[in-house]
Amino acid sequence: MNERWVWRLQRRPEGMDFEPAFEFKSEPIPDLAPGELLIKNIYIGMDAGTRNWLHPREDGFDVPLPLGSAMVGILVGTIEESNHPAYTKGTLVRAYGQWADYSIVNPAEAGVFVVDPEIDDIRQYIGLIGPSGWTSYFGVLDVGKPKPGETFLVSAAAGSTGSIAGQVARIAGCRTIGIAGTDEKIDWIKSDLGFDEGINYKKDDVEEKIKEYCPNGIDIYFDNVAGPILDAVLPNMAIHGRIALSGLMDSYNAEGPVPGPYKFEYLLHKRVSITGFFSPDYFHRGDESDARMRQWLDEGLITFRFDETNGVENTLVAYKKMFTGGNIGKSIVKV
Ligand SMILES: NC(=O)c1ccc[n+]([C@@H]2O[C@H](COP(=O)([O-])OP(=O)(O)OC[C@H]3O[C@@H](n4cnc5c(N)ncnc54)[C@H](OP(=O)(O)O)[C@@H]3O)[C@@H](O)[C@H]2O)c1
Repeated sequence: MNERWVWRLQRRPEGMDFEPAFEFKSEPIPDLAPGELLIKNIYIGMDAGTRNWLHPREDGFDVPLPLGSAMVGILVGTIEESNHPAYTKGTLVRAYGQWADYSIVNPAEAGVFVVDPEIDDIRQYIGLIGPSGWTSYFGVLDVGKPKPGETFLVSAAAGSTGSIAGQVARIAGCRTIGIAGTDEKIDWIKSDLGFDEGINYKKDDVEEKIKEYCPNGIDIYFDNVAGPILDAVLPNMAIHGRIALSGLMDSYNAEGPVPGPYKFEYLLHKRVSITGFFSPDYFHRGDESDARMRQWLDEGLITFRFDETNGVENTLVAYKKMFTGGNIGKSIVKV
């Protein structure tokens, strides 16, 4: 094979209008430089936080992906060609590569990790095992510091990060409540994931429902969205409650500054701490989360769902799902 299909960023997207921003093109595969690998992508995971890379920000945070670059994504694939002594052709790996059918990566930068071929489902390497799992595992346990019997609330609860976070909190002994955007999602988190309660934020009065389900206040809020849901949460935090700030789904597609939270005062009244965190901060402890996830999977204590879109040419469909609520579990592309 001499050619590959790649998604390249051609201009900065406005809101959710991703189609004009990306171009899907066939191009020659260059000779590998010393140390590089050519990976045949099998699955590509979609991550909502990558929306930050598409903004033209100049504050030094999350340096924007340069125009013309191939879009970066996490993948599981097979090494097709290796120019690196430590990696052999045919090895199954997880890596940060490109939205493409073939990725060219340098292991020094791409977080290449050899997949255990004995695992039942290799997709778990972009699911429970690896960075997605780390976000939820460390976000709940290290940032949230749950104690048995405490009340735990998570937003975007039926997505990748939220569905894992709720289960980690449940395993830690918390009463677990999830917020999501459809009744189907609420049914799923309660019946399959073991959440105690669910709130459909598109239908219910979120603040009233939180009061009903958390009469003694929320001890830990795992926030994936911020925006109006955070404002509904703040007055309902327990004294000395903790907010683990994971992400800002409500504003990733916003143009210009985002106002709020309006109920900021409750951080003071309730002596609440709010801590932002990033999963790469926990890279050095990844093995700890991976081992636990594998154990919980084997014991049937945790489950994970993939929302699969077929064909690398449909990557934008899979990407957009996260911003419109079209996914249940992790949105991935089967290349
Ligand atoms: N801190 C870290 O290191 C880290 C790492 C990974 C992910 N994250 C964060 O985790 C969050 C989820 O990311 P993910 O990749 O796992 O995606 P995901 O949860 O699988 O998909 C995103 C979900 O967010 C919900 N959503 C979208 N817009 C919303 C809004 N305005 N208000 C409320 N809910 C909304 C949608 O479901 P509904 O139907 O419920 O609306 C959608 O399914 C993101 O904020 C991301 O940045 C953080």
